[in-house]
Amino acid sequence: MNIKPAKRISQIKPYFFADLAKRIAGLEKHGTDIIRLDIGSPDLPPEDFIIESLVEAARQPNMHGYGQPGGSASLKKAMADYYLETFDVTLDPENEVLALIGSKEGIFNLNNVLINRDDLVLLPDPCYPVYGVGALIAQAETYPMPLLAKNDFLPDLDAIPEEVARRAKLMWLNYPNNPTGAIAPYSFFEDVVKFARENEILIAHDAPYLEVCFNGYKAPSILQVPGSRDIAVEFNSLSKTYNMAGWRVGMAVGNKDVIRLLQTYKSQSDSSIFKPIMQAAERALRGDQSWITERNLVYKRRRDLIVETLKKLGFSLETPKASLYVWARLPDEGSDSILFCEKLLEETGVSVTPGVVYGKSGEGYIRISLVTPVGRLKEAISRVEVWMKEKV
Ligand SMILES: Cc1ncc(COP(=O)(O)O)c(C=O)c1O
Repeated sequence: MNIKPAKRISQIKPYFFADLAKRIAGLEKHGTDIIRLDIGSPDLPPEDFIIESLVEAARQPNMHGYGQPGGSASLKKAMADYYLETFDVTLDPENEVLALIGSKEGIFNLNNVLINRDDLVLLPDPCYPVYGVGALIAQAETYPMPLLAKNDFLPDLDAIPEEVARRAKLMWLNYPNNPTGAIAPYSFFEDVVKFARENEILIAHDAPYLEVCFNGYKAPSILQVPGSRDIAVEFNSLSKTYNMAGWRVGMAVGNKDVIRLLQTYKSQSDSSIFKPIMQAAERALRGDQSWITERNLVYKRRRDLIVETLKKLGFSLETPKASLYVWARLPDEGSDSILFCEKLLEETGVSVTPGVVYGKSGEGYIRISLVTPVGRLKEAISRVEVWMKEKV
């Protein structure tokens, strides 16, 4: 039998990192020592008290059945309390908070919940690819908002044509940003909220890096802007904040209609989060937060090493104030970022991400993540330095 995919998914390619992992496994099989500076999965574990809480909960006989749809009441309360403590934002845990099986799940599903065929979705370019694929599956039309160095990698709202703004149903934003490492000032969110209210656009602010900040910078939540809740939902995650990427726990917070619709959809499509993970997530949110500052110092040291090296090698870049990424423009004007990364991987074993994977405006850039210990980072740097000199 000839199995054919549904038309709406026929254009979908495997996720970039899924394919890359296969290529890397192939190179490793042939003895290449690979240093991965590509994916943004934290290399450090969560603090001990969080792991203890998971272990303790997993030993309880009553913790192995299905979890409460959309998250336990006490986890949602912990999420709301975290927002109050961290951003001075008051949320109603029952109606304005939803626990997710990692934020990627909620980001992807939001499209199915809100978007009809041919609805218009505004996408940052470059952006986290899941926004675009989610829109594609919902058969939406998309309109790119270029994130350019000259605009500090913020979308230019004035450049969105009036008829596009009027038609748009959903706008994705993500600060601190993946892949550019850019931040958005509070005033940008004020402008966005005004723009969205005027044009009746729902803002989905994807914000998993709010707590990965350096040099005392504190990133704002869009929900701090008065009136934002009428038009905005924010996705947050324990993956990067608490080094819990593989645990799969995140949240959607904000507009209560969106939360209700997403909750109903999810009650059909999944069966919630493992209860011990919910309990440990609650501990992470309520427990001592000071270790996050220490952890961010580890990332900062790696960031400084990468930035210094890339500048020496002729890349142009800004030092990121937040996120897990350094976004660097290749030294040669018009370089093909995929070709550059493929050659780098094959000839040095160092893996970085081509910028074009995140959208057309990412061409000519590479993304380097901060999740590799300094020792390995130094090894990667010396390989890249030799390689770049040989290339010239
Ligand atoms: C911008 C952005 N959004 C969402 C996610 C997904 O995070 P989670 O682990 O919560 O699914 C990531 C993960 O890398 C990300 O970079």
